[in-house]
Amino acid sequence: MNDGDGDLAAQDRGKRFGPLGTALVIIPTYNEAENIKSIVSRVRKAVPEAHVLVADDNSPDGTGKLADELAAEDDQVQVLHRKGKEGLGAAYLAGFRWGLENGYGVLIEMDADGSHQPEELPRLLTALKGADLVLGSRWVPGGRVVNWPKSREFISRGGSLYSRLALDLPLRDITGGYRAFRRETLEGLGLDDVASQGYCFQVDLARRSVKAGFHVVEVPITFVERELGDSKMSRDILVEALWRVTSWGARERVGKLMGRGKPSSSPSSPSSPSQP
Ligand code: GDD
Ligand code: MN
Repeated sequence: MNDGDGDLAAQDRGKRFGPLGTALVIIPTYNEAENIKSIVSRVRKAVPEAHVLVADDNSPDGTGKLADELAAEDDQVQVLHRKGKEGLGAAYLAGFRWGLENGYGVLIEMDADGSHQPEELPRLLTALKGADLVLGSRWVPGGRVVNWPKSREFISRGGSLYSRLALDLPLRDITGGYRAFRRETLEGLGLDDVASQGYCFQVDLARRSVKAGFHVVEVPITFVERELGDSKMSRDILVEALWRVTSWGARERVGKLMGRGKPSSSPSSPSSPSQP
C-alpha cells in the first residue's frame, strides 16, 4: 500500500474521512540533550502549523530543561515532565492522553534522534486525509534505512515478518515508530489496557488498529540511524516483543479454533468505527 492507493482504496469502499484538525507531534525523550533542539526546530520548519509535545522521563542529561527553554520561546512547543524512566510506550500513552485532552485532531509519533525525518511528515499527513492511521514504512517499495548494519536490518525485517504472520496483519513495517493517528483512531483502540513497551508497543497499536477495522496506510520513509546519543533499546525489549507477539498470535488462533474468532478484520470491514 502507498499513499495514493490508500486514498483510492478508501474511496472505493465509500468511506469518508473528516478534516484533520491540528496536529501534535509527540517526541518521547530519554537522554537526548544532543538531539532535542535540532529535532524540534526541524519539525517547526517542516510543518509550521503543527504543535510539538516533548515527553521527557526526567532525563539525567538535562533534556527536559533544554525542552523547557524551547517551550519558553515558542507557544507551539510544550513539555510533559514525567517522574522517571518508564519506557517509550508509557511516554507515548501519556502524550496521547495529553493531546486528546487538549483537543488535537492528529497525534504523531516521532523519535528525537533524527531517525524519523520531519521533512517527510507532510507526506504522512497527506496520506492521513484518506486513512485512519498512517505508518511510516521502511519495508514498502521506496522505503529504506540509512546507516544500519545488516544485522539490525535482519532483526527488524524479521520482527515485522514474524508479527505479520503470527498476527495475520496485512502490513510490512509493524515495529516502526513514525506514525500519524487521527484522534478518533486512538479513541477506538482501548489504550487504557496497553501494557507493552518497546518495539512491541508499536506492534500492539498496529494490531489493535487493524482488528478494530481502521484503514491503515503505509507510506515509504527513509529511516536514518542516529548519529548522536545512544539507543535505549535492549535485549529485554526484544524478548518482550517476541513473547507478547507469540502469545497474542496463539490466543487469536485458539479463539478462532473455538469458533470465537471473527473472520479476519480486513481493512474493508464495514463496521469501521470511524465511519460516519
Ligand atoms: N520518555 C521516554 N522514556 N523516551 C524514551 C524511553 C523512555 O523510557 N526510551 C526511549 N525513549 C525515546 C528516545 O529518547 C527516542 O527519542 C525514542 O524514544 C526512540 O528510542 P531509541 O532508543 O532511539 O530507539 P530505536 O532507534 O532502537 O527504536 C526506534 O525504532 C524501532 C523500530 O526499528 C523506535 O522508533 C521504536 O519505537 C521502533 O520500534
Ligand atoms: Mn533511535
